[in-house]
Amino acid sequence: MPSSNFIVFGAPSIERDEIDEVVRCLESGWIGTGPRVARFEKEFAAYKGQPFAAAVSSCTAAMHLSVLAAGIGEGDEVITTPMTFCATVNAIVHAGATPVLADVDPRTMNVDPAQVEARITRKTKAILAVHFAGRAANMDALTEIAARHGLKVIEDCAHAIETEYHGRKAGTFGDFGCFSFYATKNVTTGEGGMVLTRNEEDLARIKMLALHGMSKDAWKRFSDEGYKHYFVVETGFKYNMMDLQAALGIHQLRRVESNWRRREEIWQQYNQAFAGLPLTLPAETEPDTRHAYHLYTILIDEAATEITRDEFLDAMTANDIGVGVHYLSVPEHPVYQDKFGWCPEDYPHAMRIGRQTVSLPLSAGLTDAEVARVIAAVRKTIGAKSKGVRAKGREQRAEPLPLALRS
Ligand SMILES: Cc1ncc(COP(=O)(O)O)c(C=O)c1O
Repeated sequence: MPSSNFIVFGAPSIERDEIDEVVRCLESGWIGTGPRVARFEKEFAAYKGQPFAAAVSSCTAAMHLSVLAAGIGEGDEVITTPMTFCATVNAIVHAGATPVLADVDPRTMNVDPAQVEARITRKTKAILAVHFAGRAANMDALTEIAARHGLKVIEDCAHAIETEYHGRKAGTFGDFGCFSFYATKNVTTGEGGMVLTRNEEDLARIKMLALHGMSKDAWKRFSDEGYKHYFVVETGFKYNMMDLQAALGIHQLRRVESNWRRREEIWQQYNQAFAGLPLTLPAETEPDTRHAYHLYTILIDEAATEITRDEFLDAMTANDIGVGVHYLSVPEHPVYQDKFGWCPEDYPHAMRIGRQTVSLPLSAGLTDAEVARVIAAVRKTIGAKSKGVRAKGREQRAEPLPLALRS
């Protein structure tokens, strides 16, 4: 049992509006897929400026269905990044296709377009790009490569609800944009996902596959419009979102911008507080892009900090600070080594990042006092081990810290 003082990593910020909507939903008698899901889809599509959205049970489901709807399967290859959650790769595998990894740019931690191009074969059918941590992937280069080779583009926007790239929103570049509303995400429905598309036929196929392959609007079969027969036209999946979940999402989405501003504030405080420490902080956001500030990741290089990444994780936990690792690179996991013969050394940038990375709490719900506790714990942990470097860091720090942030 964590102590009451423990800062839960990625704790959602749930307010009265969500709670009241969930209660109204429970009282309405319609808790499964229904009118609230339809409203959430409409409002999410409007927020992203895309004509169509299909709510599903997770981003994993969204990506699985997108790969299928792209007509990709057995014998086809999809190129993606090793610096992602296993779900990205699993979705390709679930569709029967073969995932192919391309290493990341060590600065942005996003897939390196040159590496993508180098992995294209006659079997390649799509690029599945991840906007890692909320930082926009290089969509100019990726969409240009895709157009030149006749590939589909699918975006894993699990971290990227608010992300923009050269004036366009993440999830609107490719054929499909896939979003997660998992408990730690910038907009949460507990579990949940969404597919954005600009093609009405793709939307219809995704909606049908998400509900067992039942014909259009089968979810309305018990509504006050009277019982409706349906036909099963494909062997689909059980990937639908419930109204109970959408009840949360509708109100979460209304606060998406104010929550983003709060996370930006925390991000800047971390940047300022850690500037002198021997850590690698997140790279500057690229010009003409908007970072979603989903994960604040620091790299712990033992040579500089005299503490290993895992010792750092333990020290933060001992200080009642919940931390995360996003991610060990995909080829570190035994299942992919067995299945595809991948080894981490073949993707050296992702391997190094995965072995050094730590995500600090960045929830919009963090209080100033909690942010100050995170900063103090990082300073204490790094400082205790690397006094020499810390002293150097102090000299380098340009601005005095605001009072609230002093440890
Ligand atoms: C990059 C990335 N892709 C996909 C997923 C899967 O999302 P979900 O849990 O909604 O299936 C996650 C979830 O953490 C993620 O971080």
